[in-house]
Amino acid sequence: MLWKEDVLKTSVILENEHHGIILTSSNRHPGKLFLFFRWQNLRGPPCIQGWVPWIGAGFEFGKAPLEFIEKARLKYGPIFTIFAMGNRMTFVTEEEGIDVFLKSKHVNFELAVQNPIYHTAWIPKNVFLALHEKLYVLMKGKMETLNMHQFTGQLTEEFREQLENLGAHGTMDLNNFVRVVFQNKRKIKEFYQHFKTYDEGFECGTQLPEWLLSALAIVKIWKSGKLWVLALASHLDLDRTFMQAVLDIVETETGQHSPNYVLLLCSGHLHLSCPTVRSPDIHKTILEGISSMFGTAGKDKIKVSEDDLKKLPLIKWCVLEAIRLRAPGVITRKVVKPVKILLSSGFSHTVPPGDLLMVSPFWLHRNPEHFLELDSFKPERWKEANLDKNVFLDCFMAFGGMKFQCPGRWFALLEIQICIILVLYKYDCSLLDPLPKQVKLSSFGGYPPARREMPNRI
Ligand code: HEM
Repeated sequence: MLWKEDVLKTSVILENEHHGIILTSSNRHPGKLFLFFRWQNLRGPPCIQGWVPWIGAGFEFGKAPLEFIEKARLKYGPIFTIFAMGNRMTFVTEEEGIDVFLKSKHVNFELAVQNPIYHTAWIPKNVFLALHEKLYVLMKGKMETLNMHQFTGQLTEEFREQLENLGAHGTMDLNNFVRVVFQNKRKIKEFYQHFKTYDEGFECGTQLPEWLLSALAIVKIWKSGKLWVLALASHLDLDRTFMQAVLDIVETETGQHSPNYVLLLCSGHLHLSCPTVRSPDIHKTILEGISSMFGTAGKDKIKVSEDDLKKLPLIKWCVLEAIRLRAPGVITRKVVKPVKILLSSGFSHTVPPGDLLMVSPFWLHRNPEHFLELDSFKPERWKEANLDKNVFLDCFMAFGGMKFQCPGRWFALLEIQICIILVLYKYDCSLLDPLPKQVKLSSFGGYPPARREMPNRI
């Protein structure tokens, strides 16, 4: 593999804004390279560009994005640019860069995500830009912590119904199990098949341009799943739910595109598996907590309230710890005016407009300065977080940060906790396969099934 050899020698062109392109082969001399970068200081960060026009480092990056990002950081330092598929992605890994990412007026969220949004759900860019602010404010309001109690009853009811359909015992891949439990009630089997197709091709399908997509067979299958879910979305008869409130705005403002927004909201599926079952002590403590609240595990129709959840904090810690370990690989903003980023070494780089500024929550959560025993599943570290005041641990960025932090975060935590309680109350679960190793392939950080190497049956 390219990286195991000398990446610099074979595939790196360092870009120089003012003097064209300079090729370096000084990979065996890190000192020289350092001086070279120093000389480059006032210009852009070092750029990994590859040889093939437009594709750039796309193939190597696409094979294992997370691994590529970390190797680039080790080789080039805390800020570097990867040129791939026509995009310049500048990664920042230190505090100052992350601060710029979160707070600078010269970086823009909407412009950074409009392309993937278009590929996800064919929402035209002008429509997305016109509606984004309004929809974000609406979603944030509907899903704020104070409103969570409105969802607990319905979520418990729906999960319980899904579990009843699953029967009393059996073996299933954990990912498929989660999909079945979380899926829509209507047209269940068909929806499951098509949504699975859409979901599995999601990462590839949303990141490549339209002309390349039409040439790839795998993406054609992805598109067929997408079309099916989109068609279903056009016939949904929604009552006055949260989704309907979103769609009202879309209808009023555009007169169309509601199905596209339904599809967009369906696609926020994260491949999380909470490894509580793998840690016998934690598993036992959780089961004791559940039976002390709801009685011995069994068939009773239990009701889960917010107060019950507060009395079972270990479950929330486990969920957050699982999210920390499987955090999104990247989040992004578009640079609209040059931004200067000061490094801890005292040097600085200026990131040019047009670049996508990138932060990797996945790697941020593996920074030893922020998290001890960073690769271990240690739910107890969440004791330190002020969760009662809705504050996560410092440097936890799985839900993004500042103005565009995920508006669905409290809802996501709520539904995962309720789901875990109902599943562990009803079933005596054990893992049949060893917990798969973290595969650093996906840019989303989880275990996309299409790229998993092992089954994960319970
Ligand atoms: C564990 C589950 C989830 C994780 C890890 C997650 C993570 C994220 C992240 C990292 C972002 C981008 C933030 C940024 O760039 O700063 C985001 C945005 C978003 N999330 Fe989530 N999310 C989750 C669940 C949900 C759920 C359940 C919903 C909806 C019910 C949701 C709705 C959204 C929306 C609408 C945005 C876009 C915000 C905007 O347009 O400004 N998320 N999420």
